[in-house]
Amino acid sequence: MTNASAAVPDDPRAPLSSALQNDASFRLLVEAVEDYAIFLLDAHGNVATWNSGAKRIKGYDAREIVGRHFSVFYPPDDIAAGKPQNELSIAAQAGRVEDEGWRVRKDASRFWANVVITALRDARGNLLGFAKVTRDMTDRLRLTELQHARELSAHVQSALENERASIARELHDDLGQQLAALKMQLSTLDAGAQIAAMQTQIDTIIGSVRRIAAGLRPPVLDDLGLFAAIDWLVCDVRRRYDLTIQLHIEGEEGGIDTSASTSVFRLVQEALTNVVRHAQASEVRIAIACTRSRCTLTIEDDGCGADVTRGRAAGTFGLLGMGERVRQLGGVIEFRSAPGEGFRILVEIPLTRRADNGVPASP
Ligand SMILES: Nc1ncnc2c1ncn2[C@@H]1O[C@H](COP(=O)(O)OP(=O)(O)OP(=O)(O)O)[C@@H](O)[C@H]1O
Ligand SMILES: [Mg+2]
Repeated sequence: MTNASAAVPDDPRAPLSSALQNDASFRLLVEAVEDYAIFLLDAHGNVATWNSGAKRIKGYDAREIVGRHFSVFYPPDDIAAGKPQNELSIAAQAGRVEDEGWRVRKDASRFWANVVITALRDARGNLLGFAKVTRDMTDRLRLTELQHARELSAHVQSALENERASIARELHDDLGQQLAALKMQLSTLDAGAQIAAMQTQIDTIIGSVRRIAAGLRPPVLDDLGLFAAIDWLVCDVRRRYDLTIQLHIEGEEGGIDTSASTSVFRLVQEALTNVVRHAQASEVRIAIACTRSRCTLTIEDDGCGADVTRGRAAGTFGLLGMGERVRQLGGVIEFRSAPGEGFRILVEIPLTRRADNGVPASP
């Protein structure tokens, strides 16, 4: 028996550890890393070393995990599909394998991991084992999911607006015109009492069609602009609900593009719907002020208020949707209220109006 072989005991981890762990300062460095789980596997996939990051990410102490097979980090379906062993085989053949997927902590909770397994060989090319570096990517995955959800919500919102606009157009232009034509045809017939009644009924239907179309998207928003549309909305709510609404508008609306003006209109519409539904208010004040660089909007009522610190109740989307619209415009929104103290909504939206030379307008 040679000296070299005598130095290698039966424990399969020994050559690996002695080959890679004899540099004390390097070992200390690896052990201290918190952000990555860095550890060695022997050639069979049993854990040989453990660092602080591995403990933090996976939850095991070194004495609990060293010697156990690394497949304990994989979810059951991956184990059933032979994934841990496959990854070792690929790393052994190709030198390295990288994977992203769910892994399991000691407490059975899952985390989204980026894993790199590198084969370690001695000078003669004999496989010593593997180095495994695992990074917890769960936060990043959640951020990506959130980003997707937000993009989807923006897309759904603009699709909904387009759909509303086209239904409103159809109702107004097509159905409205046909009813008007029918009414004219009737007037050419014998002017009996029955026909007069029918004409009155048609007038009522025309009125309904206009009201439904305007509710979906007021033509005044496209024809006369945001300020006129808000004025129309406020008059409509005043008349229908006998509510005192003070409206103050300051500045120019020229810097507000179509999507911002649709959003501001919908914010006021949703806020007024809430006042009517929830507030039991006697007075509402709406203030809109636009400068070259920003538009501020305040809507406050003197009604019963609500506890806004309690978080969102299931199935309520009004305030959430307002927040989402404002966020998409790069603005901020704040809800201030408490029981018995009215409800106040403060919005600030930046206006990125550009001068003809493409330079953003100065504030
Ligand atoms: N002006 C207000 N005065 C008093 N409470 C309000 C006012 N606006 C909103 N709230 C409270 O905040 C809650 C959330 O409002 P939100 O608009 O998100 O949902 P909702 O109006 O109940 O339902 P929807 O999804 O149809 O809008 C309301 O249920 C109500 O309790
Ligand atoms: Mg609502």
